[in-house]
Amino acid sequence: MRKHIVAGNWKMNNGLIQTETLISELKQQTKTSDAEVMIAPTFTNLWHAFESTRQDDIEVIAQNMHFAEHGAYTGEISAGMLKSIGIKTVILGHSERRAYFNETDESLAKKVNTALAHNMRVIFCFGEELSDRKAGNEETVVENQIKNALFHLEASAFKHIVLAYEPVWAIGTGETASPEQAQDMHAFIRKTLKSKYGETVANDMTILYGGSVKPGNAKEIFSKPDVDGGLIGGAALNAEDFYAIVNAF
Ligand code: 13P
Repeated sequence: MRKHIVAGNWKMNNGLIQTETLISELKQQTKTSDAEVMIAPTFTNLWHAFESTRQDDIEVIAQNMHFAEHGAYTGEISAGMLKSIGIKTVILGHSERRAYFNETDESLAKKVNTALAHNMRVIFCFGEELSDRKAGNEETVVENQIKNALFHLEASAFKHIVLAYEPVWAIGTGETASPEQAQDMHAFIRKTLKSKYGETVANDMTILYGGSVKPGNAKEIFSKPDVDGGLIGGAALNAEDFYAIVNAF
């Protein structure tokens, strides 16, 4: 059985005080669904967020990490550093990392390897741009992103991977993929996994949708059979909205 997950990607938002406030507001919410809840604050607030949610049903996760173990990589954070403060899950390959920080399938494959070597869980993001979809190339783009970064792995590694389909044109734009577009792509992703790793890996894979998920559209998107949760940006910065999405399952 695959899991339901709703993860809030806070991106480069919230200093320490706002982080404290948002976490205390999140703790006041009631979860009525079976979804695992995760939040990804920025690096400087990870430790505080981790400490202050120890007793709660909220996992604190990282937004990124470097592939090297340590060394002369000014400004970067390693898997070991994340593990040393208790972080067990990392988002890799977000489209903003790919677009603004030149992350490629090749560098992401290295990051995935490093995270797995540290027994971390990876939320691996990918998705096509608007021009790809307009040209009818969305499946090819997504297939290549998955194959290039993940298909060197053994089947057993996929127990530690969650996939997040985030069409770039739907991120922060208010434009969402229709529930049917999300379902079609998620089914295609599952088929792609099945072709290489077989039915069990494909059926057990948790596939999240990300891109302008809001309280008003979450229920419909999550009702689709291949959509197992969401990676939430803007709406994750408001505790009530975020839990309305968590409880949409
Ligand atoms: P929005 O929900 O703000 O569109 O962001 C989605 C996202 O990028 C989550 O990682």
